[in-house]
Amino acid sequence: MSDVTLPTTELATELPPCDFVVFGGTGDLALRKLLPALYHREREHQLPPGFRIIGASRSDLDDDGYRALAREALGRHVAPDELDAESVARMLERIHHLTVDAGDPDGWHHLHGLLKERERGQVRVFYLAVAPALFGPICERLDEIGVVEPTSRVVMEKPIGTDLASARRVNDAVGRVFEEHQVFRIDHYLGKESVQNLLVTRFANTFLEPLWNSRWVDHVQITVAETLGVGDRGAYYDTSGALRDMVQNHLLQLLCLVAMEPPTYVGRETVRDEKLKVLQALKPMGPADVDRDTVRGCYGQGVVDGAVVPSYAEDLGLDPASGVGQGPSCTETFVALRAEVQNWRWAGVPFFLRTGKRMGRRLSEIVVVFKEPPHAMFPHSEGAVLGNRLHIQLQPEEGMRLHMTAKEPGPGGIRLHPVSLDLSYATAFAERSPDAYERLLMDVIKGNPTLFMRRDEVEAAWAWVEPVLCRWAASGHRPKPYPAGTSGPTAAALLLEREGRAWQEIE
Ligand code: BG6
Repeated sequence: MSDVTLPTTELATELPPCDFVVFGGTGDLALRKLLPALYHREREHQLPPGFRIIGASRSDLDDDGYRALAREALGRHVAPDELDAESVARMLERIHHLTVDAGDPDGWHHLHGLLKERERGQVRVFYLAVAPALFGPICERLDEIGVVEPTSRVVMEKPIGTDLASARRVNDAVGRVFEEHQVFRIDHYLGKESVQNLLVTRFANTFLEPLWNSRWVDHVQITVAETLGVGDRGAYYDTSGALRDMVQNHLLQLLCLVAMEPPTYVGRETVRDEKLKVLQALKPMGPADVDRDTVRGCYGQGVVDGAVVPSYAEDLGLDPASGVGQGPSCTETFVALRAEVQNWRWAGVPFFLRTGKRMGRRLSEIVVVFKEPPHAMFPHSEGAVLGNRLHIQLQPEEGMRLHMTAKEPGPGGIRLHPVSLDLSYATAFAERSPDAYERLLMDVIKGNPTLFMRRDEVEAAWAWVEPVLCRWAASGHRPKPYPAGTSGPTAAALLLEREGRAWQEIE
């Protein structure tokens, strides 16, 4: 059991000395997420002496130029009360910049020189915060200059491919240089405290497990609703859409955590093994299943948080006169679908997934809907006995709510009333909740892959999603329009209503 790693205790262990190289060091991800995450760990005195952060990009910057950029980014992306001059100064001292271009062999010898200053065997992290087309070429260059050692690691951000074949190509290219145990594929949802807590909620409490199956569960809903539109990411998003951007990774990962069997212990491979089994048990979708069990939507103009917001077409800079969902773009900003996990535990239990941009409220939530009591014992009562619902809320606030039926107090017959038992984590735990990247970056440095996606998981997820993409492309249908600020197209509601079920309200 040498690889036993409990996520909640990982942060307590010490980090090894490390060179942390960020390709795309001047890009949005590095400035908005990676540097602030490292700053928070610096502030906690977790970064060891000699820990270096090396930004690599095509920008013609020296160390001081990059430090100025980093300082500005911290000012913008760290809360003012968490920004202290001493920690910022300590962090900036660690920072360097090198000008390199994946397509040009010049400049790489500087990286070689800088890394080779250190002893052999030092941990090197190569974080690819760049377009996926550069993953392969950068790995090749690293190999050519001889800086990849057994203690080196590479980190990839999604999208890893746009379908199964392209995902395999990316994985093959990276796999020619790095062994699978050195590859860390980030799904930032797995770094969220609330998502890790799902595992603990399920497996560190005994009362749920006996009920967590098709005998007691009627269906499961997983919703990730955002109020934001595509903003300035239109160029990427329009080639992706919600299925590739959110379902193939984040929502399927959540589904896995809800549906997986208990591993024997939480270790490097055990959780990933169990998640893979869930992905492999997903009922494959044929064309008729896709037509019946999936809904695509595209947001039009509407009101979100009291302000009028533009349509998706307008966000892309397309002609608004072309109409909501009727514009030249056929990309979905909303998906709802019905999935099934074909195994003993879940046979016949539908899993409804839903995600969308510009919805009525920001909400990420898993709702486990239990079956109704088998027998109506209160025939003369007022009010209905509803199935219990367990809400596991991931965002914006983290918490759990169990909906039950109770007797309304008072004389004169039985009046049934829904009540909820609420557990708010913000009230139960006073600590600041770290950003997902803080946790994930530390795990990369320590070499703990538990919360990263293994190659077989990514490819199994693509294998399930791909027939949906193919059928949508072949059908010639367009995504259904929905006004911004709502719960998505009405067809999404019908997906459940036709079975006598209903989505949890978002608005
Ligand atoms: C990203 C998607 O992976 O996740 C974005 O590319 C999406 O489109 C984001 O907005 C949502 O993440 P979070 O943490 O805000 O729920």
